[in-house]
Amino acid sequence: MSVIIAPSILSCNFGNLERDFELINQSEADWFHVDVMDGVFVPNISFGFPVISALKKIAKKAIDCHIMIVNPDQYISDFSKVGVDILTVHYEACTHLHRTISAIHEAGMKAGVALNPHTPVSVLENVITDLDLVLIMSVNPGFGGQKFIPQAIGKVKQMKELIEKTGSKALIEVDGGVNTETGAKLVAAGAQALVAGSFVFNSPDPKAIISSLKKL
Ligand code: DX5
Ligand code: ZN
Repeated sequence: MSVIIAPSILSCNFGNLERDFELINQSEADWFHVDVMDGVFVPNISFGFPVISALKKIAKKAIDCHIMIVNPDQYISDFSKVGVDILTVHYEACTHLHRTISAIHEAGMKAGVALNPHTPVSVLENVITDLDLVLIMSVNPGFGGQKFIPQAIGKVKQMKELIEKTGSKALIEVDGGVNTETGAKLVAAGAQALVAGSFVFNSPDPKAIISSLKKL
């Protein structure tokens, strides 16, 4: 199976979101990666439900929503109502992670858990078979355009081992500082989905960049 590419709409032109959403629709990308930030869990505020609803109306691909917020449980049904397909919460924001994962499934979405760069893979040992996706952060969450943290490559290998050992069906996705060079190393390590924001949208030809990532 070829690598899943999920362009991050955080790097879109917010003065012309519809044009960039259509660009992703027409590209070889597989998912829309949607970063929701609350200004508490991360030192930045992005956007919320009205933007996701507007995206859902035109999206021809799945919505992969990465929520960088405290108290995610409070908003699970709202994310389901606006049409999110995969909802990924942060391990570091969940006191009762198993309950949160169950609530995401009960709301009809696929469930993912993201790990910050300092968080070891082993914290997911007891929930890995309940997950549809794990998101390895290769930058500290909060902003697009940051430098790739290379330790993420080793974490992808460890996650692959954990998934194989337990028979989990979880996909391994990586987010932050992805380009063709870092992306190739991540895919070789076992990553099955790559998020890319600035690498795609800072390019004069985003569709060609998406195609180049898709070939990794
Ligand atoms: C960072 C976000 C990322 C971000 C990636 O907190 O989770 O999804 O958009 O941006 P790049 O690809 O520019 O590092
Ligand atoms: Zn993200």
